[in-house]
Amino acid sequence: MSAGVRVGVLVSGRGSNLEALCAAAASPGFPARIALVISNRRDAGALEIAARRGIPAEVIPLGHFGHDERARDLAMRDRLRLAGVQLVVCAGYNRILSDEFLAAFPDAILNVHPSLLPAFGGGMHAVEAALDHGVKISGCTVQLLEPGITDGGPIIVQRAVPVHEDDDPERLRERIHEQEWVAVPEAVRLWCEGRIRREGRVVRIAAPPGATDAPPSQADSLT
Ligand code: GRF
Repeated sequence: MSAGVRVGVLVSGRGSNLEALCAAAASPGFPARIALVISNRRDAGALEIAARRGIPAEVIPLGHFGHDERARDLAMRDRLRLAGVQLVVCAGYNRILSDEFLAAFPDAILNVHPSLLPAFGGGMHAVEAALDHGVKISGCTVQLLEPGITDGGPIIVQRAVPVHEDDDPERLRERIHEQEWVAVPEAVRLWCEGRIRREGRVVRIAAPPGATDAPPSQADSLT
């Protein structure tokens, strides 16, 4: 059994971010292992990815809890705790988590969102909204989730994606996804290496252990 921080991943869809995280976790020296995948949907492609990778996965649908979101979230919390999960990653999880769930893992829930927050937060159609607004640059954000605010938590990693004249939502979404596949493993690595320092809502990234140079600024990761 490999060592590393035990990560629980919440999914609802295709699972390409889960796949990217699995690939990173399988590489030598990555400081995390995926202990459990939880989906709220039986038809999530992410479940096939977990099965192929031999990662324990469970479906915890809202219907089992009389459509009580809080009850479902508490069941998820308990399951994650039982699996010894230290860090939760929402990788395309399509529900807003209850404050009680968020408070159960303080500063230990990451979420990936397909825009450069705070632009186009708070909804499931960030890519369409960015195109409709006519922005020239969009991207992705990995942030910490906190009780009481949606898509407004401290930002850990952002990666920029230029918008092309002929983009439609599918084309732009795919290029944003490619950046998410870098950003999510990067944020997980930083968290697991204990390099995330919060100053209020601002996250500073500490240098890796043994490094003598100053850490790169977030701007250096923009492509
Ligand atoms: C990603 O674009 C993420 O930003 C959003 O949902 C999508 C999930 O994609 N929250 P996948 O299921 O990881 O392929």
